[in-house]
Amino acid sequence: MRKPIIAGNWKMYKTLSEAKEFVEEVKGLVPDADKVDSVICAPALYLQQLVASTESSSLQIGAQTMHEEKEGAFTGEISAAQLAGIKVNYVIIGHSERRQYFNETDQSVNKKVHAAFENGLTPIMCVGETLEQRENGETGSVVEAQVEAGLAGLSEQQAGQLVIAYEPIWAIGTGKTATAQDANEVCGIIRNKVASLFNDGIAQQVRIQYGGSVKPANIEELLGMEHIDGALVGGASLETDSFVKLLEAGS
Ligand code: G3H
Repeated sequence: MRKPIIAGNWKMYKTLSEAKEFVEEVKGLVPDADKVDSVICAPALYLQQLVASTESSSLQIGAQTMHEEKEGAFTGEISAAQLAGIKVNYVIIGHSERRQYFNETDQSVNKKVHAAFENGLTPIMCVGETLEQRENGETGSVVEAQVEAGLAGLSEQQAGQLVIAYEPIWAIGTGKTATAQDANEVCGIIRNKVASLFNDGIAQQVRIQYGGSVKPANIEELLGMEHIDGALVGGASLETDSFVKLLEAGS
């Protein structure tokens, strides 16, 4: 009953001409929007052009981050209202690279999630444990704490619309994928946490993606799992062939 969502996160890759070429090639190959939500989260400076070029396609465009404040003296930052103003649909919030290199915290993630909803954007909120935390048996408690902090103060309606991406940090860009069973187990922990914070109906609505070295060879097994509703994909979203295969697997 939950529609899969496959989102590419291009990170700081692709020039404008490469981005346009990719979208031109892919936009006619995207499955129907009633089967799967297909999203590319591109560098901020191309968003407006990519939104315009995908207007009549099922391909949707998202941002990779945003600032939590409405407006103000925050040099170089972009607000939720500014993203909404150019008709961006999704925004990744709290990616582990933002937490690690740009000092994002559970509290700033929570503020960003609120700001995104207030402006009609769908947040893709990232959670996940480090290798050390996994080896210490802390995976469940780490992701539960991230979910609880990230969802604080949301209405039931907002919580149900949220997309949560479970990305074990040790699996990002490393070629190491969590087994489908391990990924499903943690996504199940996340869903149970949402149920305890809200209720079972909301927990059944929320879409949970897995991210970390997802590729055409492993996506079907991952999507076959009870609690995995999609994927947040870095490396394999950069090539048109593999990205289209991922979308097809989701449809
Ligand atoms: O946002 C995407 C994730 O960081 C996963 O990246 O697919 O290159 O491992 P990856």
